[in-house]
Amino acid sequence: MSSQIAIQKVSQPKPKPNQAELGFGHFFTDHMFIMDYTAGQGWHDPRIVPYGPIEVEPSVMVFHYGQATFEGLKAYNTVDGRILLFRPYANAERLNVSNERLCIPPIDPNFTVEAIKSLVEFEKNWIPAGEGNSLYIRPFVIATDPYLGVKPADTYKFFIVLSPVGAYYPEGINPVKIYVESNYVRAVKGGLGFTKTAGNYAASLKAQEEAKEKGFTQVLWLDGIEKKYIEEVGTMNVFFKIDGEVVTPSLEGSILAGITRDSTIKLLKSWNVPVNERRISIEELYVAHDQGKLEEAFGTGTAAVISPIGELNYNGRTISINGGKTGDLSSKIYHTITGIQNGSVADTFNWTVE
Ligand code: COI
Repeated sequence: MSSQIAIQKVSQPKPKPNQAELGFGHFFTDHMFIMDYTAGQGWHDPRIVPYGPIEVEPSVMVFHYGQATFEGLKAYNTVDGRILLFRPYANAERLNVSNERLCIPPIDPNFTVEAIKSLVEFEKNWIPAGEGNSLYIRPFVIATDPYLGVKPADTYKFFIVLSPVGAYYPEGINPVKIYVESNYVRAVKGGLGFTKTAGNYAASLKAQEEAKEKGFTQVLWLDGIEKKYIEEVGTMNVFFKIDGEVVTPSLEGSILAGITRDSTIKLLKSWNVPVNERRISIEELYVAHDQGKLEEAFGTGTAAVISPIGELNYNGRTISINGGKTGDLSSKIYHTITGIQNGSVADTFNWTVE
């Protein structure tokens, strides 16, 4: 694979969006990264080109069988004028975990990070200022053979697109109301739950829509076999503080190994807060609540970082967590991670890459 990235500049840069109205994922920068894969030749022709429509045949395999993987990470401007990426090698390596499961050829993680750095450096004027704003980086791979047989493709495209973003949920760091989903399931062990593939998110939409109709922001996913054990919340990993101990579902094949999840566990350990990765049932959670031991609940993910859970509804019974307010621990984790990300908190873990 050649690491020479060719560059084609736009003739007319776009106006930047209003920083106060970014939302999440609505705007895209002037350029994108593309690289091709051809069986026998490997990954080739890395390039930065103007962002815009791409032309593919309607028969390309990704449209039919969903051979698609993606990642998400963010770039931040620091107060002292540096640009930081947060744990980009972890994303590059996880992309290959997803690729392996979907029979997509791996991409050298060092090259993925080099491509991200080159594109972000090229588009650095698009990194938005303002508390909680960042440049969201979306690497993704799609199968591009024009072919309708079911098999792994022989050709792929790897893209990186950039989007200046604000908060993922309009609630921001304010607690969300969550519906415990006991009809639809997100993933089962042996399936794709541990990967970041388009199909997982397609499978989640129906439950999310029905929860919204009932007045909830998202769903809490239970395991796909017994519908008993807690797995994830919406598109995020989930944590509970019960009687002083933090519990998060263990990674047993159906849960995404979130990078914010891992960072949260490492931070908690460094603060000597007991943290336990194990199976936890929804019944156990409700019992803990009834005994007054359920102190906090929150989701972790790249997009929202920390999203506190203020209310849960399971089988018609609603419980309020921490009086529906953001807990001290959730708030401390949020401010520490976002502080490390934007350079205002010392990065003792060496998570950031300039
Ligand atoms: C995250 O970063 O938390 C997500 O997985 C959401 C993303 C797919 C927009």
